[in-house]
Amino acid sequence: MKYHLITYGCQMNKNDSERISSFFDKNNLTESEEADADIIVFNACSIRQSSIDRMTAKIKKIKEQSKDKIIILTGCLLKKDIKKLENFCDYILKSEELPSWNLPFLKKEKIDYFEIIPKRRDTAGYISIMKGCNNFCSYCVVPYTKGREFSRPAKDIIEEVKEAVFCGKKEIWILGQNVNSYNGGISFADLLVEIDKIKGDFWVRFTSSHPKDFSFDIAKAIKNCKKITKYLNLPLQSGDDEILKKMNRPYNAEQYSKLVANIREIVPDIALSTDIIVGFPGETEHHFHNTVKMFNEIDFDMAYIAKYSPRHETKSFAEKETVSEEEKKRRERVLTEILTEKNLIKNRLYLKNIVKVLVMGINKKGYLFGKTEGYKDVIFPGSEKKINSFANIKITKCSKWGLEGKKIIQK
Ligand code: 5AD
Ligand code: SF4
Repeated sequence: MKYHLITYGCQMNKNDSERISSFFDKNNLTESEEADADIIVFNACSIRQSSIDRMTAKIKKIKEQSKDKIIILTGCLLKKDIKKLENFCDYILKSEELPSWNLPFLKKEKIDYFEIIPKRRDTAGYISIMKGCNNFCSYCVVPYTKGREFSRPAKDIIEEVKEAVFCGKKEIWILGQNVNSYNGGISFADLLVEIDKIKGDFWVRFTSSHPKDFSFDIAKAIKNCKKITKYLNLPLQSGDDEILKKMNRPYNAEQYSKLVANIREIVPDIALSTDIIVGFPGETEHHFHNTVKMFNEIDFDMAYIAKYSPRHETKSFAEKETVSEEEKKRRERVLTEILTEKNLIKNRLYLKNIVKVLVMGINKKGYLFGKTEGYKDVIFPGSEKKINSFANIKITKCSKWGLEGKKIIQK
């Protein structure tokens, strides 16, 4: 039998799909294109309504087109979302129970989920070091869909990083909902130090970090470890103290700013990205202005801006929405404009400089694309053979969104 996997959501979902794929292959199933597949596995996420809507439309379309295809639904889903999809799916299963999925074409195994070695098909090697979350931010489904926080033993993680590096991965992503509170025998900072000791030429990135748990030992590890990239995602969510409180984020704007200043003192050239939610219930123009102020002051290198999406089971679901979709879009635009304007100024500083880039793929126009250590996009001409290797690129052009180089200079 043939199967096809469709993944929605974050890198942790991608990593779950790699385990599903590996387990299916072991059971003599063959991965194929969607049209040829007997089984379609949807691995999805309830974090935002838009993602659920996209998946629902896709599942319905497949069922309409070919009734014979077996549809399996898994991932981090809320009961309410599952209920709506029940009639269109043949099986709904929990990803962490993969070794014991009750399917006629799979043999159950008495192993732990994390013992399944992921089938790595991306240029990046994803390593989930923990699962779940204990923070209960009032808008977020993760504590409900993924349960409480659990850290994997450090030695298993080290082994898995070694395996991914051995497979040729040059970009290792260390993943968890809040990696700063990792506690698998050693601290997160010590885990980074141990990973840095692994032999090979690769970069290490990690996400996501909760400001309340960010220790200076982590900043020191970033500074001292050569393979740990100087790139940090530190979700702010809002720049207003009242909104932060309602979001159940236990820090205020001033504390966040101080934390960033301290991190920058230890690692001056760190690239900083953040997550923001616009249009949280009760977010007035005044509250939003405080986020704008933070954006101007902090000078983020990147921001993932999301429009608030009310989710069942979460605390803030009970709160009446006060910001229209139009206004959410406007607020998203305002922040994006500040970000891109600042980026244009920063990107100009790269002109004529040589930067180290990890080549990740080739775009539709035939240009190679990749990322710098600080996760900046770079495009340049070159051969496909360079994909998944490091290259030194001379920057000749820049825009709001990234950098462009003319030729690859000998490494
Ligand atoms: N609505 C909008 N954005 C959300 N996020 C989490 N839950 C929601 C929600 N209900 C965003 C947060 C988080 C990122 C992964 O997704 O910014 O950091
Ligand atoms: Fe969700 Fe992140 Fe908050 Fe956990 S820390 S509840 S995953 S937003």
